[in-house]
Amino acid sequence: MHHRLAIIGFGTVGRGLAEILHKKKEDLKQRCGVEFSVVAVSDLLLGSVYWEKGLKLSQLLNLANEGQSIAAYPDGIKGWDSFRVIKESRADTIVEVTYTDLKTGEPAISHFKAAFESGKHLVTTNKGPVALCYRDLAAMAEERGVQFRFEGTVMSGTPVLNLAARTLAGTTIKDIRGILNGTTNYILTEMEKGLSYSAALKQAQEMGYAEANPEADVEGWDALAKVIILANVLLGGDLKVQDVPRKGITGLTPEDIHRAAQAEMRWKLIGKVQRENGSVVASVAPETIPNSDPLAGIGGATNALTFTSDFLGPVTIVGPGAGRLETGYALLNDLLHISVGDGIGSKDFW
Ligand code: HSE
Repeated sequence: MHHRLAIIGFGTVGRGLAEILHKKKEDLKQRCGVEFSVVAVSDLLLGSVYWEKGLKLSQLLNLANEGQSIAAYPDGIKGWDSFRVIKESRADTIVEVTYTDLKTGEPAISHFKAAFESGKHLVTTNKGPVALCYRDLAAMAEERGVQFRFEGTVMSGTPVLNLAARTLAGTTIKDIRGILNGTTNYILTEMEKGLSYSAALKQAQEMGYAEANPEADVEGWDALAKVIILANVLLGGDLKVQDVPRKGITGLTPEDIHRAAQAEMRWKLIGKVQRENGSVVASVAPETIPNSDPLAGIGGATNALTFTSDFLGPVTIVGPGAGRLETGYALLNDLLHISVGDGIGSKDFW
């Protein structure tokens, strides 16, 4: 089948997806039976281009990576804004990967709504809208008969939402607990080795883990958005930002970290969601955990999440929580689900 995409936002994640689609074109066609074409790209800084026949991704990536306007692409219509691309392009699916705003969710919320109103599927890694108004957006997508998928909002391409929703279907998840922010875990790991907080943060920024405004990481906002998504999507909660106690890692000193190490413990920024007296509660806070806890062994920018359910007890998934290709892969996985549902690769795997 042919699946036409429009990408809104052509920063790290949008380019990561384009790179994957370019490299894997033949493989995706042969193994999954899907031929993807990107018909439009719109970016606030780089401009926009719409070419119904499908854009050459290598050319587009070269322009963007060299900091040139994508309007310099040789073919197509230039100058459409994001809303015009969403509404008027002949895309089947909109890939929304603009800047995450955890306060207003905009402009992404309006992009999502425009996609649903235009009868287009939407895939995203944008946490703001999903954390702020998942229920309304999911209802709107359902009403319009389109798919709304966002695997990459939690732990990038590590398949936590799919794991819980599909592979753990039939269990009752009682509790979810884990390390959901790579930047803070990286900082804490480096501080254990003796690096200062500011040097470790600078390294995390250089490696591309940190949010555009790293306050979102170190003050726990990014982990907060992720626990709200887990609570509302997987446990049927209706939590708002103000319902979740949040504390970041900025109050931790090298002495705190040293004292914990002497007691064979480690500081970790832990996100938690659980059922409590018939409701769903969540929190984000640094905790000391014993070195024997599986989460204590998770170092660097790696994330991990433990699901505890009625039949299985704790099941832990460990993997990347950020990165260009890692997050791009989450989008690819969502796109494949839209294209071919659960049939992906079944002949290869079973
Ligand atoms: N800033 C985030 C992190 C990126 O450090 O985990 C992925 O959400």
